[in-house]
Amino acid sequence: MTVLYGADYNPEQWPADVWDEDVRLMQQAGVNIVSLGIFAWSRIQPSEDVWDFAWLDTVIEKLQAGGVQVNLATATASPPPWVSARYPETLPADENGASYWPGSRQHFAPSSPTYRRLAGELVRRLAERYAHHPAVVMWHVGNEFGCHLPMDFSDSARDAYRVWLQSRYASIDVLNDAWGTSFWSQRYGSFDEIFPPRLAPYSHNPSSMLDYRRFTSDMLLECYLMEREILLAAGATQPITTNFMGPFKPADYRRWAPFMDVIADDCYPDPTNPNRVRDAAFQRDLVRSLKRGTPWLLWEQATDAVNWRPSNPGKRPGALLAETAQSIARGADGIMFFQWRQSRAGSEKFHSAMLPHAGTGTRTWDAVTDLGARLAALGDLPAPGRDARVALVFDWESWWAVEERDHPIEIDYLALVLEWYGAFHARNIQVDVIGPEEVDEGYDLAVAPVLYLLRDEGAAALSRFVEGGGTLLAGPFSDIVDTHDQFRSGGFLTQLGPLLGVRFEDFGALGGVSTGGTGVGAQTVRAAGAGGTVTFDLRGASLPGGIVAERVHAVGASVIATFETGLTAGSPALTRHAHGAGEGWYVATQPVAEGLDAVVAAVVEASGVRPVIDALPAGVEAARRGDLVTLINHGDDRVEIAIEGTDAETGAHIQHVVLESQGVAFVTAPVASRAAAGVLEPSAGDEAAASVTAAGAVPAR
Ligand code: GLA
Repeated sequence: MTVLYGADYNPEQWPADVWDEDVRLMQQAGVNIVSLGIFAWSRIQPSEDVWDFAWLDTVIEKLQAGGVQVNLATATASPPPWVSARYPETLPADENGASYWPGSRQHFAPSSPTYRRLAGELVRRLAERYAHHPAVVMWHVGNEFGCHLPMDFSDSARDAYRVWLQSRYASIDVLNDAWGTSFWSQRYGSFDEIFPPRLAPYSHNPSSMLDYRRFTSDMLLECYLMEREILLAAGATQPITTNFMGPFKPADYRRWAPFMDVIADDCYPDPTNPNRVRDAAFQRDLVRSLKRGTPWLLWEQATDAVNWRPSNPGKRPGALLAETAQSIARGADGIMFFQWRQSRAGSEKFHSAMLPHAGTGTRTWDAVTDLGARLAALGDLPAPGRDARVALVFDWESWWAVEERDHPIEIDYLALVLEWYGAFHARNIQVDVIGPEEVDEGYDLAVAPVLYLLRDEGAAALSRFVEGGGTLLAGPFSDIVDTHDQFRSGGFLTQLGPLLGVRFEDFGALGGVSTGGTGVGAQTVRAAGAGGTVTFDLRGASLPGGIVAERVHAVGASVIATFETGLTAGSPALTRHAHGAGEGWYVATQPVAEGLDAVVAAVVEASGVRPVIDALPAGVEAARRGDLVTLINHGDDRVEIAIEGTDAETGAHIQHVVLESQGVAFVTAPVASRAAAGVLEPSAGDEAAASVTAAGAVPAR
């Protein structure tokens, strides 16, 4: 479909006489859609019994007359002051049980029945008024669920948690077993004795913490589903979505994805992050993989500087195009910004926008109008398809569990996964970022780093994958606990050991905390610590390992690399084992730098996966979506690249492209034979997932 181009539009911040100019300038910029009214609750319902839709009717009419479509927000993300004043039970609480107060946004307890009642009424009125409005082409539910409030410890949460636990475990004895409450005298007599994990003298039961994270994600999802059901009940037929935040720890988006008609994501690469290209690519691959084979929408990015980091430099010239192209390359069909017109007041007045406060005679406005024209020239984009032959396993439950306290070493899961991703990204090898259960025969290689918590279904899928001919690289610190964060009987690597040909004896923390990584988008990732290192020998080279040096034994596996130093000197660091029609590799450390690269080189060679394009100059990123190849020059120097195809913007036949720094080329270059190249088309199952329209309750756990 033609690229959607636009922004959050907050006309309620401006007098009505600005609205006509807005629409005129939107047309000039090539804007074809706006997300309208995301924070307009207090304007729509200034007090409990007063509703005002007249201004919204007018704005929608003006947009429609100007040919701008509307993604209409349900406006539930920031309750008006009267809600907090009259219904204090809607407010969330921190881990001391102390209330958060109004005055900002997102000051609602997701499990509060009163909040849900009031939000539900707002959505019902909006839905009844606009469900059949021809200008409204999409619904934007809430906004960035959980963004500012990763956990709520209020009394509403307490009550809802007890109900949630009861439906998960049915009996308190089952819960006691799942949580291992015989330890530290934690045995519960009834569900009413259970509280949210508020401030305690020492570490909470880790199994309960894991459930509290599941509960938190489910409460946010319930809010989304409640609104979705109201929209559907009012006859809404437009796609319904909300904006994700990439690898956002509090919400397990994989559970949300089936209820999103299209995945929408917000991404704000940090210009000061040396790994920003890698991290943003990961985020885009992650969100595309939530509905494999279908396009997604970049629902927010910044035209230039943001205002919420300690230091907020603008983007370097051309970076807006380069970052946008990365989204298109990795499956996006929509390119949107926060926000259309820079605010004059409020917390975000220093945040860039499509229309800067300084007006149209600006570098930003030129970049925005140029970008609109280039995206329009692309016309219809091909669906992403199942282009990746490599699966990188990334799992929210494992993330939650592995970052709990009291482990051999503190682990920054996202940072470690990003390091593995980076070795593939640097090679321009296309990767899907998926859960262990989703690893299937569409891949040649699966990489499962730090898959600490491994569910039975995930273990079964990985076994099937290897038996069917796939290459699996697992480790370190993988297959340690079950779904309740308990050790399985029989030791470690109980599920994967047979296909890896390895027995796991003991952990080996190297001291310090995990290696660096500066995070993705709005995420905060703990700062890097010193960490320990160990060396291991791979093909005659001594390479650095880090964080852990586990003591494992080869039980049938060939030892490819051995630890040379440290307490595990002489024991296997990298193993390889033929199993079924495939093979399993285990790495007993998180290698750093060239160590990690060498391990990835070895499994890439063994599995035969290929880059999108061979031998690209350094700094050039390439990704494929169907027949469209996108090339982006992130380097400083001009490069020339041989590629035969059609320039997707001009229609000209080309045999090479020349890219200045930050330059971008979109080239239609079909894989000679998609079947011969092993490219999978989306399966029926993937497509079904992409077009789910029926809402339901939060799926049972
Ligand atoms: C988030 C929010 C927006 C805005 C931007 C600023 O993505 O959804 O409302 O606050 O951040 O970067």
